[in-house]
Amino acid sequence: MSVHKEIRKVTTHRLSEMKLRGEKIAMLTSYDFSLAQLVDEAGVDVILVGDSASNVMAGNETTLPITLDQMIYHGTSVVKAVHRALVVVDLPFGTYQGNSREALSSAIRIMKETAADSVKLEGGSEVIESVHRILSAGIPIMGHLGLMPQSIHKFGTYTVRAKEEAEAEKLISDAKLLEEAGCFALVLEKIPAKLGAQVAAELKIPVIGIGAGSGVDGQVLVFHDMVGITQQFSPRFLRRYHNLAAEIKGAVGNYVNDVKSMDFPNEKEQY
Ligand code: KIV
Repeated sequence: MSVHKEIRKVTTHRLSEMKLRGEKIAMLTSYDFSLAQLVDEAGVDVILVGDSASNVMAGNETTLPITLDQMIYHGTSVVKAVHRALVVVDLPFGTYQGNSREALSSAIRIMKETAADSVKLEGGSEVIESVHRILSAGIPIMGHLGLMPQSIHKFGTYTVRAKEEAEAEKLISDAKLLEEAGCFALVLEKIPAKLGAQVAAELKIPVIGIGAGSGVDGQVLVFHDMVGITQQFSPRFLRRYHNLAAEIKGAVGNYVNDVKSMDFPNEKEQY
């Protein structure tokens, strides 16, 4: 008799059922095989191969430089490790804005080459033609509004978005537009909690927040931030669950000392 428990894969349909029964959705980023395996086994519902890989993995100041090929490399590594979570891969800057045909071919490359479950893109009315075209090919889309890091040069800062009424109204109408188009979920980044709760209440699709308060349908954080690997970044919305930077530096320091003092390798650690 098999002792293996059947793993039920998270689907876009299961996420909407979670919203309906009030179960919050837990989402985290991953960019590589080894960590994605741990994140999946720990029970996260959605794994985002975010273009934050540009900052976290490649050390860039912004998310703009990361390429489609690089996102596909990260996506492929993550998908190989994941058995349960829904995997979403970010469409990087410059691969979907302005030209819906190019948007579709970028999304198709991600789906074909990574075998991910969905793509994510930033923006509302400005990218709606691309949204329609990608959806028409049967590719699920997660939207992203509020602070949109790919537009950092338009806004100039990473401060809280949609505090003013006009920007909040545009965000609400963009959220509805994305839902009507057929997006299966929406990320809201760094906006007032009241607005986050209002959007989640007005939409049927799940709304997942990062700095959007507790009234949304789920939360997402960047893995390296929440386990304390990244040290310089500490926005108010970030809860650090560990101080891995200190642990890693401690372990590496001990290794260096052991090598230099010739304590490593010992008798049992050689052939
Ligand atoms: O790229 C990313 O990690 C993201 C999250 C911040 C939502 O888009």
